[in-house]
Amino acid sequence: MSKEIANKQEPAINHEVKRIQLFTRLPLSALGKVAFWGFLITTILCAAIAGALTIFNGAPSRDIAIVTVLLVVTTILVATGMRWLQAIAILPSMYILYLLFVEPFVIESLADPKGPNGGYGHFIGDVVIIAAALIAFVANIGVVLQNYHRISRKKLRWFGPAFSIIGGMVVGALFIGALAPSPAPATVATLQAPQMLAGKGVPTSVNMGMAGAPTSVSQLQQPATTAHVDHFTLTAQTAQITLSSGVTVPAWTFNGTAPGPMLHVRQGDEVVVTLVNHLSFGVTIHWHGVRVPNASDGVAGVTQDAVKSGQSYVYRFTALDAGTYWYHSHQFSFEETANGLFGALVVDPTTPTLHADIDESVALHTWNGADNQTIYTMNATGGTLNQTARPGQWVRLRIINTAETSSGNPQLLTLVGVPFQVVSLDGHDLHGPQWLNETPLPIGTAQRYDIYFQMPAHGPITLVTNGDNQSYLHAPALVIGQGSAPAKLPAIGQWFDLTSYGSNTASPTITPQSHFAATYNIALGNQMGTSLGRSGMTYSMNGKVFPDTGMIMVKEGQIVKLHFDNQTTLYHPMHLHGHVFTVLEQNGKPLTGSPVYQDTVLVPPHATYDVAFIANNPGIWMLHCHNFLHANWGMDMMVMYNVSTPYTVGTVSGNFPD
Ligand code: C2O
Ligand code: CU
Repeated sequence: MSKEIANKQEPAINHEVKRIQLFTRLPLSALGKVAFWGFLITTILCAAIAGALTIFNGAPSRDIAIVTVLLVVTTILVATGMRWLQAIAILPSMYILYLLFVEPFVIESLADPKGPNGGYGHFIGDVVIIAAALIAFVANIGVVLQNYHRISRKKLRWFGPAFSIIGGMVVGALFIGALAPSPAPATVATLQAPQMLAGKGVPTSVNMGMAGAPTSVSQLQQPATTAHVDHFTLTAQTAQITLSSGVTVPAWTFNGTAPGPMLHVRQGDEVVVTLVNHLSFGVTIHWHGVRVPNASDGVAGVTQDAVKSGQSYVYRFTALDAGTYWYHSHQFSFEETANGLFGALVVDPTTPTLHADIDESVALHTWNGADNQTIYTMNATGGTLNQTARPGQWVRLRIINTAETSSGNPQLLTLVGVPFQVVSLDGHDLHGPQWLNETPLPIGTAQRYDIYFQMPAHGPITLVTNGDNQSYLHAPALVIGQGSAPAKLPAIGQWFDLTSYGSNTASPTITPQSHFAATYNIALGNQMGTSLGRSGMTYSMNGKVFPDTGMIMVKEGQIVKLHFDNQTTLYHPMHLHGHVFTVLEQNGKPLTGSPVYQDTVLVPPHATYDVAFIANNPGIWMLHCHNFLHANWGMDMMVMYNVSTPYTVGTVSGNFPD
């Protein structure tokens, strides 16, 4: 009888259990309450972080919304222990995890921790979100298990919450822990000082001069003048440069900023600059594009010894030519210029040729962010630079490319909002410049473009660059006048072509018909090989790498022609110190527009460029590719006037110009 009753009761119990499994809310254990509060607080925190990230870093709010909703659901689940909700929640949380790991933004974020906006929040935001999703997911499983145990063995009511808390935290922590080494800090504390090369094949002491020549570099000084003197002091020192909110890079600078102080002088002035070195390694200053006396050219190992830590050096020259120039270190130029040792030099003409109400220089520079990410900047701003201007005012912008893009391609610049003229290249005025509309200006490393325009009645004018991209970037940008940069930027059209721009009514100093004392063919190549004792991709001139590239011997008064023949698929901005090139031909075709004078010619891949110069500045002058990576791996030679030098390049002196 009793057995029968017992048997009859079985189905009733089973029925009760099924009903509980589906609908009944079970009371929370003490541990469950802890879990509930933990999840509630995490939910609120996550929502707050998510909102802040959206506002300040522009991180996608979609992820934040998803995770916040997930946490809200989890909190409710823990609070109520309702199993039917549980079943519904498990699927979306798996889906969210799938999205988080497979969606490109996570992969992008891991590869590019600063995110597309140059902020660090994107990455931290993703870590928080993924960790939160993992915790929620494990918690969901925990609640399911809790319910299972409650029904089968009521004693184990603590199991689910304990599993939720401990399991969720462990999984979340493991995830963050696994990623902890990768999130790069927003600030890198120090830069590695340029390393002296050592070992076999590294030159110990190479003298670039002509032994026994009648003149030495040291004698080629600025003669005494009665000109007005401009004195400047440039102190090489370390600094932290803030490129945008939250992005700070360590730098070597002149006077604490990069670009260093803008030196503004008048044509005919004598410029006297004292370089004081507070860095721990040698530096120099080269006056790029300026026809200085050789002793002031700033090339370590050729015209001087690198100025050692704690020492100083005085540069003196007359500002012979008006225009936009720049200065940079020429000791370990590859590292020193890239890391901030540069600035602008502007020489105003004795008789002004253009009226400008606003005259500004803009240095395009790239910085190495965390994880070797390239940050494009204008005057050390990765975001928007602002320049006030009123309608009707005339503006001259002097754009200097101090950067090196990783591809070596020129950066393309354009002005959005008003037609503009290119009034000078490398500081030298163009003749009869036409008005251009959103024309992309290809600017090679070390080159300068001066552009000129009038502020329109309404709206701002924006200077944009493509960095190394197929389209223009929204940042960095220079916004001139009231308002903000346009939301939609133009597509990149037909590039500016210096060989056919401006009017041909003026004749150049040198024409293809001039009498040339000599013509030098310079084949620009690249091949695997060795340079200064290192093996790798070398960049050659006529098949040789520095210091074996030989030299071009010239005599004062000669007109010398150089024929660059680029046999590579890369651009080479070829620069000669102390002289100005007259551009003769590109790919064998003479110029049809204004005469063009440059100190740096951008030789395109598989193109030829013919330039000529008047040998009117005795000394030993570098002729090199201004892509410093190429110069560092061989692409340098000397133009020589039978001059000797007391300085040497190599490990004995510690001088390495590039
Ligand atoms: Cu601007 Cu030899 O360099
Ligand atoms: Cu090059």
